Formats: sequence, structure tokens, C-alpha cells
Amino acid sequence: MIGIDKINFFTPNTYIDLVKLATYRGVDPDKYTIGIGQSKMAVPTITQDTVSMGANAAFPILEKKDLTAIDLVVVGTETGIDESKSAAAFIHQLLGIHPFAKSIEIKQACYGATAGLMMARDFVKTHPGRKALVIGSDISRYGLNTSGEVTQGAGAVAMLISENPRILAIEDTSIAMSENIFDFWRPNYSDTAIVDGKFSNEAYVKFFNLLWTKFTEETTYSLDDISAFCFHLPYTKMGKKALLPLLENESAGVKEKLLAHYDLSTEYTRNIGNIYTGSLYLSFMSLLDNQTTSLKPNDLIAFFSYGSGAVGEIFSGRLIEGYEKHLDTANHKDMLTDRYDLSIEEYETIFNKEIPKTDGIHSLDEEKYEKGTFYLSHISNHQRHYEKRQ
Ligand code: CAA
Repeated sequence: MIGIDKINFFTPNTYIDLVKLATYRGVDPDKYTIGIGQSKMAVPTITQDTVSMGANAAFPILEKKDLTAIDLVVVGTETGIDESKSAAAFIHQLLGIHPFAKSIEIKQACYGATAGLMMARDFVKTHPGRKALVIGSDISRYGLNTSGEVTQGAGAVAMLISENPRILAIEDTSIAMSENIFDFWRPNYSDTAIVDGKFSNEAYVKFFNLLWTKFTEETTYSLDDISAFCFHLPYTKMGKKALLPLLENESAGVKEKLLAHYDLSTEYTRNIGNIYTGSLYLSFMSLLDNQTTSLKPNDLIAFFSYGSGAVGEIFSGRLIEGYEKHLDTANHKDMLTDRYDLSIEEYETIFNKEIPKTDGIHSLDEEKYEKGTFYLSHISNHQRHYEKRQ
């Protein structure tokens, strides 16, 4: 049995309230909070990037014995900080993982962490007793005053994959599909994404339907067997657009169970926004942290991963007895309640700040706003340098 042994997330300390943003943009706040389904949006300072957020997500869950057992580190991201050197190379060093580990980065839009998870599962299968660290870390940016603005966000998840996992056993049920489409993309020369919003919604729902049909054919699972769905959530209404049509002819019991669990799985995204690669696994943590007694050991969870461009995958996993003892629920909740509430002016200033691109040494100081354990401290002749707060 192989799966998720430990899991954690990190989101920057700074956010913008979306009622405040709607009012400033002259939009009915209900459009953001009900129509899109988002309340708060994480806005990272320049000192929190893909590397620091990934390290901040992984650091609290790794013990000394893990650092010597991890032979593979995979970072899924579509917010790479370098076209050549991987974020994983930095994270491997920041976390103090032993030198004989393979540390790489994977890109396929929001699907990257799922690719990493499947690679990690296969790796552990062929390397008994060894472990793999999978991270999804991203900053979602469409630009100020764009229709995608309200669906931005930032954060990272980290998952330790091992034999005899303590949270979720991943089943051999996965079905994936790919299609070359332009629903959402980001050319190398742009630091904001280009999106065909309506088409991206349609592509997401189409992928879900095709994958679900094939998944049920190949596994013989039906909705009766599934305790909860976890979705990639670009915004909290999106997963519901895929789920609701599936429930139309189902019993009241099935509808009630899946919709109640759906709501629990969206709580963190509603307050953070889209974190791209980590989003699906943030939904999973939100579900586990916010339910009280409705999920039992051996319950079946279905996961829908979607990365524009596009690749999708549905897979399933079973909860392990005692899983609730291995979650960091209190810290997750504290992280969200203790954040700095930005004014509109602060939000736009932070959003527009850029990494210095000239020769020389550039110190970055955002002490007023952020308190991540790891942070980007300076750029020295085009090299990124990170430090650890004590
Ligand atoms: N009160 C309540 N609801 C309201 C409202 C009001 N006053 N005003 C509007 N609404 C509702 C609308 O009826 C609509 O609901 P439905 O979707 O159920 O029809 C919803 O609010 C959104 O309104 P619009 O469609 O008019 O919104 P928009 O044109 O401004 O764009 C968006 C919405 C397409 C999601 C846009 O924010 C966007 O492009 N976001 C980025 C792309 C994205 O997230 N795509 C998702 C699939 S792609 C993917 O999954 C990969 C990824 O991570 C990016």
C-alpha cells in the first residue's frame, strides 16, 4: 500500500478581501462571493515565490528520518523562477535532504503536482522503504482589473509519499487524458496568464465528464461508492459546475453526501484563491480539516486533476484508519485567521513590484508584511538567495 503519509500547505501572510476589491472595481460583491464563490485572495509579497512557498509547506512535516529517506523531490509548478534551474534544486537544499536524491521540476499547468504524485507512487513501488516528496507551488496572476483578477491566489502544498501511508492509500485506478487546446496559457515573455475564460470552464467540465465515464467503466465504481470528490478549484463554483449535472438522477442521500463534502472541500480555496498545482490537494486538506465525523477509515475519495492546455486525470484513494491524528488542522486554521488584510493601495503596490533584473546585489525587505519561515532575501548578480527566519 502506497500513498500520502503526511500533507501540509502554506499560503502567504497577505490577502485582499474580495468584497473590498469588488466595491473598488464597481462590481456587485455578490458576483465575487456568490457568482464566483471567492471571499479572500492571497497576494504574495515579492519575498514569497515558488521556492520559498514550497519549502514553507514542506518544512513543518519533515522529520530527520524523512530527510534521509527521501530519494525523489518533485515540484509541480507553472510559476517557474528560472527557465533552466528547477525550484526543486533550491528546495532540496533549504530542507536539508540528503545529497543522493533526485530533485526536479514538472510543468503541465495545474496538473504538475498530480504528475509528480503519480511518479512518486511508482518510484516508491520500485524502491521499497524509500520516500518521495511532492510539492505543488504557484502564484496565480491574470492582472489588475481583468476578468480573471478575482480568481488569482498563491500557495503551496507538500506531500510525503511512502509505503504504509497514514492518511490516504492511492488506488491503481487512474484514468488520464490530453488534448492540445488554448484555454489558458502563459507565453515565456509574460508574467500574467492569458485565458479564454468561458472556453476554459467548458474544457474543464468536458474533461471531467469524459474521464468520469471512462473511470466508472474501468473500475465499476459508481457515485454510491464515493464518499467525497476533491476537485482542482480555480474558484469554488468551478467544481460544482462539473459535479451538479452528474447528480441530477441520483438519490437524495447521494446528493446530500457529495454536496456537503464538496462544500467542506472548498473552504480553504474560498479564502486563498487559485493555487494552481496545489489546488486539488488544498481541497483534500480542506475536506479533512473541516469535517468532523462524516468520513470514516476506508472511505473512498475521488480526485479530479485538471491542467489547462490540457491534461486531466481522475484517480481514487482510501482513507487510512486514524488519518485524523496526522493532520495539522489547528495550524492550517491559524495560518488563515492570522493574516494581514491589505488595503487596495497596498494590494496594487505589492502586485506591481518586480524582481530587480540588473547586475549587482538587491536586498528585498517585506518584514512589515510577511513572516514565512523561508523567504527570498536578495538577488545577487541574477542569483536568488533565500533565508530562514529563526
Ligand atoms: N450576483 C450573483 N452572481 C453573479 C452576479 C451577481 N451580482 N453577477 C454575475 N454573477 C455570476 C454569473 O451569473 C456567473 O455565474 P455562472 O458561471 O454560474 O453562470 C458568475 O457570476 C461569473 O460571472 P461571469 O461569467 O460574467 O464572469 P466573468 O466573465 O467576469 O469571468 C471567469 C469569470 C471566466 C471565471 C474569469 O474569472 C476567468 O477567466 N478566470 C480565470 C480562468 C479560470 O479560472 N477558468 C477555470 C477553468 S480552467 C482551469 O481550471 C485551470 C486553471 O486553474 C486556470
